[in-house]
Amino acid sequence: MQDTIILGIESSCDDTSAAIIRNGYLLSNVTASQRVHEEYGGVVPELASRAHQQNIVPTVDAAVKRAGIKLSDISAVACTLGPGLMGSLLVGVSFAKGLCVSLGCPLVSVNHLQGHILAHFIQEEGKERPVPEFPFLCLLVSGGNSQIVIVKSYKDMEIIGKTIDDAAGETIDKCSKFMGLGYPGGPIIDRLARQGNAKAFTFSKPHIPGFDYSFSGLKTSFLYFLRDRMAENPDFIEQNKADLAASLERTVVEVLIDKLSKAVKATGIRRVAVAGGVSANTALRQAFIARQQSRTWQAFIPPFGYTTDNAAMIAMAGYYKFIDGDFCPLDKPAFSRVAI
Ligand code: KG4
Repeated sequence: MQDTIILGIESSCDDTSAAIIRNGYLLSNVTASQRVHEEYGGVVPELASRAHQQNIVPTVDAAVKRAGIKLSDISAVACTLGPGLMGSLLVGVSFAKGLCVSLGCPLVSVNHLQGHILAHFIQEEGKERPVPEFPFLCLLVSGGNSQIVIVKSYKDMEIIGKTIDDAAGETIDKCSKFMGLGYPGGPIIDRLARQGNAKAFTFSKPHIPGFDYSFSGLKTSFLYFLRDRMAENPDFIEQNKADLAASLERTVVEVLIDKLSKAVKATGIRRVAVAGGVSANTALRQAFIARQQSRTWQAFIPPFGYTTDNAAMIAMAGYYKFIDGDFCPLDKPAFSRVAI
């Protein structure tokens, strides 16, 4: 039987990534991250698009070479069609469409958020991992999203809760910015929190009905707390960096896990996964491991390398769509905003 080889392309934000999957197994995953945004404290869309232009050809070339295949072996190209930054998406989508025309192969479009969830199905030869059985719950937490999703199949996903204002990652990034730390704040807060006392400070938690999240109150409470303490002691942040990071991290993780636990109880679904950039967070991963150990949940945590944006997850999602014959017309445009 002929191999099914999918080239995945991801360019929705500030990572240019390409990956090759053969018959459901990952052969290569190459990501060019953009450092240019660090000095601005956030992603600058115009600079991101330009960097994608520079990175796309070498990144795809490296993924194909590392996989040990030829371009002509590719069965289909899968790319992130959205949501994301329009200028960034256009680079990956246009490149993918052009490649499909030149190779005479189909295009498969992937929703970036579904890609994050399907990262749980990425397999590598010799390193096979258990995958969640359907249906399962997935906490999808990234820079732009905080959602609780019932995953019924590879393509049937229902959002039962989402943030009504800021996302968890965005909140951590902004609080890190208030503290004068670098960008993105998530990994910095995570590192600092490991040396701090998570019970040192208390910040306000939201009381939102149902399974929705809200993080804007926490962000404001953190900002006002810093402002008041700095008025008394200008060195307050510097002297309490680690405790602030640990207390902030604890609050975010408690808010995320409390709602997720409520969703587990209400749905009766005890297979629970976490996905998206914030799933790299140490305290959040530990909270999942603790529930697995106490047999409260069957917990699924993605390997560290597949938490933030990557093309392996796009190639994986594309592989399932390809098998279903679910192809994308070449005149379908990228989209910047949409739910799963
Ligand atoms: O999924 P992602 O790479 O991009 C999208 O937003 O789609 O997520 C990026 C987010 C950022 O807010 C970043 O600060 C956060 O994930 N993040 C973390 C950690 N690593 C990345 N947040 C907390 N702890 C981390 N270790």
